[in-house]
Parts: sequence; structure tokens; C-alpha cells
Amino acid sequence: MVQIIQLMDKLTVNFCGVEFKNPLVLPSGIYAAANAYLKAYENGASGITFKSLTVHKREGNPPPRVWKNEYNVINSVGLVNSGIAKGAGEIALFKKDHREIPLIASVYATRFSEFSLMVEKLVPASPDLIELNLSCPNVDDEFGKPLGMEKGAAGKIVGEVKKLSGKIPLLAKLSPNVNDIADIAKSCEGAGADGIVAINTVGPGMMIDIYKKKPVLGTKKGGVSGPGILPVAVRCVYEIFEAVKIPIIGMGGVLKWQDIVEMILAGATLVGVGSATYYKGMKVFDELNAGLTKYLADNSISELDDLIGAAHR
Ligand SMILES: Cc1cc2nc3c(=O)[nH]c(=O)nc-3n(C[C@H](O)[C@H](O)[C@H](O)COP(=O)(O)O)c2cc1C
Repeated sequence: MVQIIQLMDKLTVNFCGVEFKNPLVLPSGIYAAANAYLKAYENGASGITFKSLTVHKREGNPPPRVWKNEYNVINSVGLVNSGIAKGAGEIALFKKDHREIPLIASVYATRFSEFSLMVEKLVPASPDLIELNLSCPNVDDEFGKPLGMEKGAAGKIVGEVKKLSGKIPLLAKLSPNVNDIADIAKSCEGAGADGIVAINTVGPGMMIDIYKKKPVLGTKKGGVSGPGILPVAVRCVYEIFEAVKIPIIGMGGVLKWQDIVEMILAGATLVGVGSATYYKGMKVFDELNAGLTKYLADNSISELDDLIGAAHR
């Protein structure tokens, strides 16, 4: 028992000054309710990301909005959320009741002024970290291209918001659907980002129901996540690690403990586990932590830090 506790202790991670009991966090939008966030934590996630908020309440896209096959999940949720005013209140309440759970708040906008307005409202709610979602692919038709597809705009948002976020570390969440994700990460770092989150969904993609002979999603196209995107995510994290010094939350396609090890070797300090919960349930967090712990022991690795970015050495 003592040995297991010592081994589990090795999983502790400090990310931007926030202590996480292990490297696995719940990414934004996979769930959007306090009881699901708590369940993820109780099942071994070390921190949770709230659903991305927009300035105004959003009803989202027409259903079906989420679909999965053996390899991938596709979604076009379209940022359903209660808007920043109510959302910030929910974050404040969650943080008051669960001070021990590291909480990442997430915001999405396509106007600079909206990002600033939302971050101003978030700061009093005291999330541990603030994520700027610069990369949602499911609202393009409505908003145009996300600002984070281009390094100048991405850096400008980070710079503007950094003036308002005070002591709360600021993360930039990036899209893989660009020519040079590392260049965008570098621009965010230069503008004051404290960390990078990569990746958001790949695509847009499409799945077709072969019996109905129609696209499965109400919007036809959507963002792709789940096991099939892992190599894209690992490549993105690898390239970002080469380009920046700030820490990375790597995510995209993680399903097995081996995938966590790959992400960390590529350069991730924390790893997001999202779609995997649709395949394996919330117990996946404990399963992955156990696999990671055993890998460290079997390979005589005493510190998780020794593994971060080791594929570059
Ligand atoms: C149903 C669904 C909703 C999502 N909503 C958001 C969101 O609101 N904000 C965001 O930044 N990412 C959102 N994402 C992307 C995830 O946070 C994550 O980046 C992506 O799913 C890759 O990780 P995974 O393969 O482990 O799921 C969503 C993903 C899914 C499947």
C-alpha cells in the first residue's frame, strides 16, 4: 500500500503554479454540468475544464450534434452555453464548494473586445487557469474563421487579455487545422501566454450513416476527436514543444495509458482525456493513471518531469 501511494505521488504535476495530483485533466466541452465534472474528478481526473463560454447564451446547432464510430467522435455542438454572466457565476460557485479541484475556465469569441469582456467577468470567479479557445471549428458559418488560425490575431488576443487576467495563468487553445501550429504557439507565448493547450478538434470532418444514406450530424460537418486523431495531436504537441518554453496541455485521441506516455514524451506536461470517456466511461481516468504509474515503475523513472519532452533528446 505504502509503495502504491509513493508511486502515485510521482504523478503530481505543477502546471503554471497550480498543483495537479496527476497529469490527466478533463478537456472543455466533453461535459457541461457540475455533476459530470465532479464525477470525472472522483474517477481520477486531476482537474477539469468548464465548457467554453461565449458572451451571450447559445442554444447550439441542430441535432444530432455528437456521433461516434469505432475510431472517432464527430461533433457540431456549436458552443451551447449559458453565456458569460451566468457561466462566471457557476464557476464561482463550483470553486467555492470545491476549492481542492483545479478548475480551468474556457472562453470563445471571434472579436477581441468580447474576449476582454469575458475575461474581466471571469477573474472575480477565481478559476485556477483561464483558457482562450482560439480554435472552435463548429461555428465558422456563423462567426467566420476562429481568430487563432492566424498568428497575428492569436498573439493580439493574448496580449489584450493578459492585461486583464492578473495573477490567473492564461492558456491559448490552438487548432490543428493550420499550416504551422508551432508558429501560432510562439506568437501566443510572445504575447504573454502562460501555457498552450493543443489540440482542438480536427477537420471539419463528416460521417455518413450507410443505412439512412445521410450525414450523421444535423450540420453535416463537424470537428473530429477520439482515438483516430492521436498521431495528429502528438505531432502538434511535438512541434509546439520545439518552439516554446511555456508548458503544454496535450490532448486529442488519448484512449490508452500508452497514449498518455506518447503525449508526455512529445512534450505535454498535462494531458487531456475527453472522447475516451465516451468509449470507456469516467473510470478511464483511474485506468490510465494506473497504467502510467506501472510504466514509470517498470522503467525505473522516478520523476514524471524526466519524461516530459524526452522524445526530443
Ligand atoms: C462534444 C464535444 C464538445 C466540445 N466542446 C468544446 C468546447 O466547448 N471548447 C473547446 O475548447 N473544445 C471543445 N471540444 C474539444 C475538446 O476539448 C478536445 O480538444 C478534443 O475533443 C480532443 O480531445 P479528445 O480526443 O480527448 O476528445 C469539444 C469536443 C467534443 C467531443
